[in-house]
Parts: sequence; C-alpha cells; structure tokens
Amino acid sequence: MTFPKLVLVTGGAGFIGSHTCVDLLENGYEVVIVDDFSNSSPQVLARIEQASGRSIAAFYRGDLRAPGLVDHIFRSHDIGAVVHFAAKKAVGESVDIPLEYYDINVSATTGLLRAMLAHGVHRLVFSSSCSVYGQTNAIPLDESEPAAPTNPYARSKWFCENIIADACRRYPELTAVALRYFNPIGAHESGLLGEDPQGVPNNVLPFMIQVAAGLRPELQVFGADYPTEDGTCVRDYIHVMDVADGHRIALENIGDRGGMRVFNLGTGVGTSVLGLIRAFEEVCGVSVPARIVGRREGDVPQLVADARAVAQAWGWRTNRDLAAMVRDAWDFQLRQAPQPVA
Ligand code: NAD
Ligand code: WQD
Repeated sequence: MTFPKLVLVTGGAGFIGSHTCVDLLENGYEVVIVDDFSNSSPQVLARIEQASGRSIAAFYRGDLRAPGLVDHIFRSHDIGAVVHFAAKKAVGESVDIPLEYYDINVSATTGLLRAMLAHGVHRLVFSSSCSVYGQTNAIPLDESEPAAPTNPYARSKWFCENIIADACRRYPELTAVALRYFNPIGAHESGLLGEDPQGVPNNVLPFMIQVAAGLRPELQVFGADYPTEDGTCVRDYIHVMDVADGHRIALENIGDRGGMRVFNLGTGVGTSVLGLIRAFEEVCGVSVPARIVGRREGDVPQLVADARAVAQAWGWRTNRDLAAMVRDAWDFQLRQAPQPVA
C-alpha cells in the first residue's frame, strides 16, 4: 500500500465500525474516528483500544454534516483513505422518517465526497447493503442482479452508490469500493465489543439474545409459510469480524486507478430463522422460547450472497462459521450487557 496508513472511519464507534477499527489497528493502520454517538456510546472507544492494544490517533465527536467538521479533520490529519459507515440503518424507521434518512445517509455522503476532493483524499470504502437488491428470487445473488430497493433506507444506500459512481466518473482520481453486506452478526472474540442496540432490537439475533438473557419473554418468528426448507426466511449471516476483514482487504487492494467497484460480502450459506435458533441453543446451551406469528411486511423468503467476485478479485473469504457468530454474540451479552434481575 502506498498511501498514508491513516484512515478516517466515520461511524467508527458503531457495530461494524468498531470491529473494523480493531482489525485495522491490529494490522498496522492508524485510525481517526468521527461519530456523534447517535447509535453508540463513548465507552466503545476505550474498548477498541483495549481489544487492539493500540491507540486511536484522534476522535471527533460530532455529526458528519456539521459545517466545517470534516474539512477540519482533513486539514488536521494526513488521511490516506476513508471508510464511511456513519448512517441510520433501521428499515421500519426509514419509512416513518424518510427525509431524515435521506439527509443523514445521502447528504452526509455528498458532503464527505466534496471534502475529500477538496483536500486531495481519493480513496473511499462505502458501507452498502444487500437491501439494495430488494424483492428478488435469485439465489445466490451476485452483483449483476439489478438493484430494486423497496424502502427509504435501502434507496438511500442505492442513491449513495450512484452518487459515488457519478463522482468517480467526473473525478478520475477518485477510487471507491462499495461493499454490500448481507446480515452481519456476532461480536469481537474478546467479548469487549459487540452489537448493543438501543431500544427494541430490529434484527433477529440481538432480539434472540435478549430473549435468551431473560430480558424479553419470547422471540416471534415472522412467518413459517415461506417456500424454504422449514418455511421460515433464509438469510446469509456473516461474522462481523469477517466483514471487518473485508474493509481492510478493500483498503489493501483499492489502489489509485480511479473508478468504483461493488462487491457483496456474505458467506454464500443460507440459514433459516429456525436454523438460527437451533444453532444458538446448541452452541450456547440456552433455550430460546419462540412462537411462530404472521409474516413481517417487506421480508423476502431468501437472501444469500454469491461473494465469489471479491474472492476472485482480492482473495477475501469468510473464516468464521455460524457457531462462532452465535457464540461470540452470546459471550458479549454475558460479559457486557445488563443482566436481568433474578
Ligand atoms: P451502527 O448504527 O451501529 O453504526 C453507525 C455509527 O454511525 C453509530 O456509531 C452512529 O452513532 C454513527 N452515526 C450515525 N449518524 C451519524 C452522523 N450523522 N454523524 C456521525 N456519526 C453518525 O450501524 P452498523 O450496523 O455498524 O452499520 C454501519 C454501516 O453499515 C451503516 O452504513 C449501515 O447502513 C451499513 N450496513 C449495516 C448492516 C447491518 O445489518 N448492521 C447491513 C448492511 C449495511
Ligand atoms: C432476519 C430474519 C425476519 C426479527 C436487515 C435489513 C437489511 C440489512 C440486514 C442493513 C427475517 C426474521 C427478525 C424477529 C424474526 N441491514 N425475524 N423475528 O430483515 O434480513 O435484514 O438487516 O443494511 O437492510 O433489512 O434482518 O435480522 O431483521 O431479519 O423472525 O424478531 O429474521 O423475518 O426473516 P433482515 P433481520
């Protein structure tokens, strides 16, 4: 790698950002983090340092859209690349407050691109999502599948991909990679970092863990009449540390030839909701009371990645299986999160 090993990580205190910072620090990069803690907490910063055994070069608390903030960061540090995680990510909430989603997810990205170009920072790794594919029947899904996002959150990610692609066409010095993650779960092997959602969890594993911990009475399984092996929806769950690896490998390979590349990050293995419950119970030795209820609006029966493109281009592969994902997530819950009153 020829560019300065100082990386600006937006949303670096969040779930995927914090794990990526640990991985980058462990591999000789320096990180500058900007985060407004709208969906994370300050204690994560110390845990990133504890888990990696290294220091964060600088931290800025603030909204990415705050006038002058990103310019100030680029003026103050010799940033070689940006990894852009900061965004809002709840699909249901995005239907209720679409303009806020477009403002935070899209305007913050255009502002970041402008500042990057103004300060000669030309490498960007962007957090995209499998949700850009929308309602699709293709299994597994490769990157040639047309995007057809079905909600404001997913559209915000698709708009950003297009904005970044347009910027790369106009500014040939800009090189970008969009990584479309499937369903990241799990936690850092140390138990220091993990997913700690505020309020009622939207996603299945964080909810399941709260049920297992006695914080909620049961898991509702949304639909058992889908055309899948056991009737419940199938997803491609991927360990968050494998997602983190994907960002480091993207930085190692991004180069400076200009243009934008888009890759799926998934395992290629599908797991049903009942399969996930079974895996959790077997690996963690805790039972999860569950009840089948009606379908959740907007869910597709199966979403499984074909991630061969990034494997062929850069040799990225997942290294952790479903057992590691549920074990590490449960371990984080046991070590960090509040326990129920007996
Ligand atoms: P997260 O909410 O845990 O992390 C996002 C971080 O960004 C948080 O720390 C939050 O405080 C911060 N942030 C949000 N808006 C900000 C702003 N305007 N200014 C500064 N900081 C801000 O989410 P995550 O799960 O780590 O997701 C990271 C990225 O990956 C997001 O862009 C998300 O859309 C994308 N993604 C997530 C998933 C998933 O299932 N977790 C799947 C696909 C894509
Ligand atoms: C997984 C499965 C539910 C909760 C979301 C976003 C997507 C991406 C990844 C950001 C589904 C079922 C869930 C529950 C359940 N994120 N379920 N009971 O919907 O695949 O993807 O996260 O980009 O954009 O939409 O993930 O974890 O919500 O659901 O039965 O209490 O679990 O129906 O089949 P999803 P999820």
